[in-house]
Amino acid sequence: MANLIDGKKIAAKVREELKSRIDKLKKKGITPGLGVVLVGDDPASISYVTGKERACAELGMFSRETRLPAEITQEELLALIASMNEDPQLHGILVQLPLPRHIDEQKIIMAIDPKKDVDGFHPVNAGKMLLGQDCYLPCTPNGILKLLEESGVETGGAEVVVLGRSNIVGKPVANLLFRKANPGNSTVTICHTATRDLKAHTLRADILIVAAGRARTVTGDMVKEGAVVIDVGVNRIPDDSKKRGYRLEGDVDFSSVSEKASLITPVPGGVGPMTITMLLFNTVAAAEKSV
Ligand code: GUN
Repeated sequence: MANLIDGKKIAAKVREELKSRIDKLKKKGITPGLGVVLVGDDPASISYVTGKERACAELGMFSRETRLPAEITQEELLALIASMNEDPQLHGILVQLPLPRHIDEQKIIMAIDPKKDVDGFHPVNAGKMLLGQDCYLPCTPNGILKLLEESGVETGGAEVVVLGRSNIVGKPVANLLFRKANPGNSTVTICHTATRDLKAHTLRADILIVAAGRARTVTGDMVKEGAVVIDVGVNRIPDDSKKRGYRLEGDVDFSSVSEKASLITPVPGGVGPMTITMLLFNTVAAAEKSV
């Protein structure tokens, strides 16, 4: 049976370290501030944004949420971002994705000042990451690296298989893991919806990172004995026995996979708390740079 990678506990440790940096900044009269933009009323997005703002408050950081109706025009959203770029109270800006279909997501991301792009989604930061230059790293991939590091998982020389090729998780986490660095130095395979024999790849993985966006994409028969499994998925499964009417499941079939894996992240309580923590980390770094 696999041991759990406790994302909440590791997140708490990183937040503790951040706390002292925040206190130092506050002594200089600077409160790290995050501006959050939420367009529309998607329940999952509301829940993520609430979690991010709560985490800011817990560490004594400032956050300001701007909630906009789904009908807002692209021009109005661009004008809001322009004003946030100029706002000295905000060291970081986060526009929760996905955006409504009539808004060009790339255009919005490109309007954010790269110096305030604490998501690490702006092409300047994405490009710098690819080139190995100093930049804001995207939160979920960086959180995954931290989970592996804190759990004592050796990435050097490891066979890593990533399921999913999104800009937010798959592409950047693959990049960070094959970089000449520690953590890093892995041999990385990226699998996606056009991959022919998924199982042939996943069975070779020492470290399997699953960001496929679909529940139970990985079952126990697809996992090598002793593998480390990182489950990035968050799926709402209808469940009448729950007060909310649903339960959360990752992209991994937890019961069969945990019989094969040596270490596995639970959902919830694995990757999620680390994503939020790395967002705070980037926001504190942005505030430090403003001094
Ligand atoms: N939607 C899903 N994940 C993320 C994230 O990390 N940042 C933002 N802004 N939107 C998201």
